[in-house]
Amino acid sequence: AHQWRGVIAEYADRLPAHLLTHPVTLGEGGTPLIAAPALSERTGADVHVKFEGMNPTGSFKDRGMTTAISAAAARGAKAVVCASTGNTSASAAAYATRAGMVCAVLVPDGKIAMGKLSQAIAHGARLLQVDGNFDACLVAARKLAEAYPVDLVNSVNPDRIQGQKTAAFEIVDALGDAPDIHVLPVGNAGNITAYWKGFREYAGLDDGAAHGTVASRTPVMWGFQAAGAAPLVLGHPVDEPETIATAIRIGNPASWDQALEARDVSGGIIESVTDDEILRAHRVLSAEVGVFVEPASAAGVAGLLRLSDEGRVPAGARITITVTGHGLKDPQWALRGPDGSDVTPVRVSADVVSIADALGLG
Ligand code: F0G
Repeated sequence: AHQWRGVIAEYADRLPAHLLTHPVTLGEGGTPLIAAPALSERTGADVHVKFEGMNPTGSFKDRGMTTAISAAAARGAKAVVCASTGNTSASAAAYATRAGMVCAVLVPDGKIAMGKLSQAIAHGARLLQVDGNFDACLVAARKLAEAYPVDLVNSVNPDRIQGQKTAAFEIVDALGDAPDIHVLPVGNAGNITAYWKGFREYAGLDDGAAHGTVASRTPVMWGFQAAGAAPLVLGHPVDEPETIATAIRIGNPASWDQALEARDVSGGIIESVTDDEILRAHRVLSAEVGVFVEPASAAGVAGLLRLSDEGRVPAGARITITVTGHGLKDPQWALRGPDGSDVTPVRVSADVVSIADALGLG
């Protein structure tokens, strides 16, 4: 029986040699590309969801962390640092522990989901809650890495992008060619950079030229930011980003230029979706598709549904959407009804008649 070996072993021939000497892996990648009939019916397209919540720490960050920590291990690094809205910290903490490294994480005080905070602490990170937002944390982490013997493992580290590009490879491998359109949430813009790189390489462009062509084309890239944290849409940084999708509560994305390049070269768009649209898409994903995600992860689906309402989704297009992180990271949103009221479970006594009654079977 074949066991998935993690993205470094599976895609070694398409990764730089310095990532291959000291592999640190938790078996990341190999996530399911799930057909989403509920979304296909709503949009008239052929929609598939790439469920990145199935990675070892529950988000796509593991793809880039296996490569970033492996490169750090090859350099003999003893400590790493990251700024994070939560998922990067959970992933960095797990892979650093695995490599026997100290992991320092800087998170915005009070603005990260409990599941992610718990993971970073469980994996032994030196977690500091910084009085400032993600953008301030990233500035501090970069300065720390410049002045002290710690390696930066945010997505400004190119080793991160190398690992994350493998998600695009997996999509093409699963479909037999690139999709027409790829949709994803955008925060610090590392992931859209990585997908665009992966799709280009598989189409025989850039670094992929030496390895030949797997896909006949590259997809159109559709990125979505939260309306209260949409610097790429507004065209200027946002000083005080706000959204319930804390993972993408980012006002000054580090990979700004790369995100615009992916948008423009692919003929795509980067637009924004409101928190309400995000929560509606979150509910469609859990209640109709059967995939439980954290709010930020629903931003791509929210964008697709909006564009569909506006008649902007080409009929029959093959569309893939990355849903970036698991719902268990930030589960509280499931307990809110569509009108914003709390959802509380019905209490019954332990006899079958009351239970049947409560279920409306009587
Ligand atoms: N979705 C989730 C669940 C995320 O955690 C992030 C980023 C994104 C989308 C956006 O990806 O930044 O590459 O554009 N989370 C980072 C973190 C910032 O610290 O965990 P991006």
